[in-house]
Amino acid sequence: MCGIIGYTGDNPVKDILINGLKQLEYRGYDSAGIAVYDPKTGIVIKKRTGRVAELEEAAKDVAQDATCGIGHTRWATHGGVTEENAHPHRCGSVTLIHNGIIENYKELTVEYGLKESLKSETDTEVVAALLDKLYDGDPYKAIKQAVNLLAGSFALCIIFDDQPGKIFAVRNVSPMIAADFEGGSIIASDLTAVISFSKKYFVVPEYHIITLTPDGIGVQDLKGRKVEPEYLEVNWDITSAQKGGYPHFMLKEIYEQPEALERTITPRIQNGLPDFTEDGIDDSVLKNLKNINIVACGTAMYAGMVGKSLIETRLRIPVTVEIASEFRYKDPIIDSDTLTIVVSQSGETIDTLEALRLAKHKDSKVLSIVNVKGSTIARESDYVLYTHAGPEIAVASTKAYTVQISAMYLLAARIGLVKGILSESVVKKFMTRLLSVGDIIKETLQEADRIKEVANHIKNAPDAFYIGRGIDYTMSLEASLKLKEISYIHAEAYAAGELKHGTIALISENVPVIAIASEEHVYSKIISNVREVKSRGAYVILVTSGDKSESTEVCDRQIRIPKVDSIFSVFAIAVVIQLIAYYTSDAKGLDVDKPRNLAKSVTVE
Ligand code: M6R
Repeated sequence: MCGIIGYTGDNPVKDILINGLKQLEYRGYDSAGIAVYDPKTGIVIKKRTGRVAELEEAAKDVAQDATCGIGHTRWATHGGVTEENAHPHRCGSVTLIHNGIIENYKELTVEYGLKESLKSETDTEVVAALLDKLYDGDPYKAIKQAVNLLAGSFALCIIFDDQPGKIFAVRNVSPMIAADFEGGSIIASDLTAVISFSKKYFVVPEYHIITLTPDGIGVQDLKGRKVEPEYLEVNWDITSAQKGGYPHFMLKEIYEQPEALERTITPRIQNGLPDFTEDGIDDSVLKNLKNINIVACGTAMYAGMVGKSLIETRLRIPVTVEIASEFRYKDPIIDSDTLTIVVSQSGETIDTLEALRLAKHKDSKVLSIVNVKGSTIARESDYVLYTHAGPEIAVASTKAYTVQISAMYLLAARIGLVKGILSESVVKKFMTRLLSVGDIIKETLQEADRIKEVANHIKNAPDAFYIGRGIDYTMSLEASLKLKEISYIHAEAYAAGELKHGTIALISENVPVIAIASEEHVYSKIISNVREVKSRGAYVILVTSGDKSESTEVCDRQIRIPKVDSIFSVFAIAVVIQLIAYYTSDAKGLDVDKPRNLAKSVTVE
């Protein structure tokens, strides 16, 4: 949530900030702003509501000889979407940008008499006013005092009027990474804004003060002790974070799934068996677990539900899947016999992170499935299984979802093996099939035109329903989330057999019902449910394996997926539901990659 960038060095800062904000825009996009040091006039601030493109226009006259500045793209938490509330905020000699939430901003306003200095409705401006009040020419002293007073999460980049060429930064929870290179020093919320300058970077340690200068970056703890940051190296380049000829990131990311899966699966299969030696995952933790607790949010949680389905049916180990924001406020029944699996693309989702902390507090070992290297969730977990989807820019998660499922499958297979539940030959067969899921996806992608045609039927509907049984119901949950989030069509997922208990009342003439029917053993059951909605006027789109053919009495359209065991058909279904959402949103002329009210990484509660 919110994108942050700061640069100081030899190059004109405006272009670096604007280009960086374009890369970071997926983190929040209701307004944007920059502040630069103009060597002639001092701090210049430009802000606009709306997209970075509008800010770019407004910032046309920013001096090219300004080489130090900060930029921000906002996802509003406190205060509406106005220019006044957009960052950077300036009070006295302090200008800053912020990602996170300052929980005690009201108390600080009263206690430090800051009301008169405030022009916006934001919690962020209170930090600027507080810092200005505390500042006596020593930035470290003021920052240290201020962060000791702040409650909540924050990533702050600060410039002081009398410290030209320097950017100070500090964070708690909210992510920030930094890098220094030939032309200067850069700091940002994530790698997409940094990678065109440097492949080496470090994760800003929490509660440390960072000083960016044109000649390098200093890191010190709050006691003033110098700290050597731990540099990491990224293994993808900027082209991965560009559209590469596709009209939208989402479509590109859907098509990238075969390679993303290959990168995630192949290195972890040794001699035909799943192997986590390189990941440092200790077999004993898998061998000794008695039950599994999966915690995550949104699509990542739905990937967890697919994992549950496999683990319970094949290993007979009980698995609970919990919404992280619910889990973190209850008293969960977990202990040292429980393995908690945390799933997160960004590795920064605040509710998931807090759930992880609670699980550890309850003595459960935590294994996370994370896409972003060095992210907070990865760093705080006992074990990490990195997915290798590469950067996912579209707000709607696609490739991250299927690689999460593949990681679950690898994990399930290893658990089965080390616990002696599955034989080597069974696991080897399973691995061979897992290695071919990329082909399943490629084959399903050939249905794109048919799916596009289906989307044209859905686009004008106010409501739509996904129905399924078993794993198809689990996939329906993800499908309806995807459709809602980017097409703004009210979509619900229903266990097909449950419709008659109330929801069927909502079915009337032409309501789209997308029935997913990959589960062979309940195929006839779901077809009966489909007939029930069809006879009440629904426009039925049936998703089945290629060998099934149903008449127009049963469905209006049929989408065929490769015939494979339902535990592998999830990969094909994922593509179908992603493309339905994508083409529906596109047909409605919506901003597919940046749907309203959303942001990619949810770092506030
Ligand atoms: O970064 P995370 O995987 O932790 O994010 C979790 C959810 O916010 C995310 O999957 C969200 O539901 C997607 N936008 C859905 O497409």
